[in-house]
Amino acid sequence: MRTVSFADGFKGWRNAARVLLAYKIAPHDIEWQEDGKSSALLWDDHKIDWQTMGASAPKLGLNVSRRFLDMAEAVSFHRNPEKWQLLYSLIWRLTYENPKLLDLSIDEQVQSFLSMEHSVRRDAHKAKAFVRFRKIEQAEGDLYCAWHEPEHPLLAYVAPFFQDRFSVMKWTILTPDQSVHWDGSVLKWGPGCSQEEGPKGDTLEDLWGCYYKSIFNPARVKLKAMRSEMPKKYWHSMPETQLIEELIFESDARVDAMIRATPASAADFIPLVKDLETLRAALPSCSACDLCAKATQGVFGMGNPRAKLMLVGEQPGEREDEIGLPFQGPAGQLLQSVLDKASLGRDEIYMTNAVKAFKHRREGKRRIHEKPTPREVGTCKAWLQAELASVKPTVVLCLGLTAALAVLGQSVRLMDVRDKVLDVGNGLKVIVTHHPAHILRIQDGEEKAAALLELESALQLARDLSLA
Ligand code: URA
Repeated sequence: MRTVSFADGFKGWRNAARVLLAYKIAPHDIEWQEDGKSSALLWDDHKIDWQTMGASAPKLGLNVSRRFLDMAEAVSFHRNPEKWQLLYSLIWRLTYENPKLLDLSIDEQVQSFLSMEHSVRRDAHKAKAFVRFRKIEQAEGDLYCAWHEPEHPLLAYVAPFFQDRFSVMKWTILTPDQSVHWDGSVLKWGPGCSQEEGPKGDTLEDLWGCYYKSIFNPARVKLKAMRSEMPKKYWHSMPETQLIEELIFESDARVDAMIRATPASAADFIPLVKDLETLRAALPSCSACDLCAKATQGVFGMGNPRAKLMLVGEQPGEREDEIGLPFQGPAGQLLQSVLDKASLGRDEIYMTNAVKAFKHRREGKRRIHEKPTPREVGTCKAWLQAELASVKPTVVLCLGLTAALAVLGQSVRLMDVRDKVLDVGNGLKVIVTHHPAHILRIQDGEEKAAALLELESALQLARDLSLA
């Protein structure tokens, strides 16, 4: 067993991994040790310097996608120290075994990777949303100071966000693991601190309280969702939480009035910042309809955030509802075989659904799929529109008529649109074809084969158009 010690977080790990991969040193031969000081490989008790090793390493073009590296960077901020081992195993397998490994959502390592990435991104979103600065007046100018307790040590991951947003202020963020200070030109890193050492009260609080009261939407008061989205541990560092009890007390009558006045739409829950990461993190707080509340979870889209081709299905099925990712169950498997035939990897496209929750009825212990109504499609549509606006595909393949309704904004019949490329403006082309679940339900062999062939050629046409 060789011990790899490295410093500088993800960057250090990536440099080390590149050299180790080139030398074909297998994951089970390495123990990763992040010591924060030096980078070296301890090989049979000899310390070997990276620079020397790297310079004479065999040439290896690292053939892993940008998407993997982005996700791996997020995972590198997870609190679990096993992450380095997991990342190296995955990059090893992607390089030497299966470049499409990330599509294998049944693979245990892929599952751990996805769930760690999800956890870090969610925590980063919370940090961006819930860090509250308090003003500290100083002779040399005001300093804004915040104390926050993230689940993962991810200050370095989110600091660039605050640097961009508050570039002209001097600010400090303290966490139990680390602290960072922005003096208007550079970020300086320091040790963590306890909550008692953090800032308390300030002149900004009244102002912030007034603002929060004015934007407060009583329809959004869902205590359960609020606690899971904004866990109590954050409440003490957020001035507006002092107002919550009072606002909740007044809310019932206001909610009734609002519900009567406005048709429900997910648009009310779409965050101002519309990148996929922020949208995904915001989905659990949507209560535009009651489908998400009855499902295990809302299921957001997945895949390449810059894909030229987007596939839209109807809604998550039972398996997707459990796992939290689209197209994982039987229909997803059929779709996978069609993608394979078209030589398309899941990381080249973006896949999502018209409706984000599994609509079902219960029969004993079984949960039976129910088709969403046009009204439900309309209510949920804002999420799909936000995904379309963020990914900006040039071609959308609608799998089934529910997807077509959501994308085209009107009901169509397959016989009217099959084999057609619909130009819907803004350079976006739409193709409508069968839903794989529909094909699975066809009993007649010939009819089934014909429908499958149609799905295959629609996907191939969509792929070719998206590459043009
Ligand atoms: N059917 C869909 O339309 N979408 C899924 O994600 C799974 C099954």
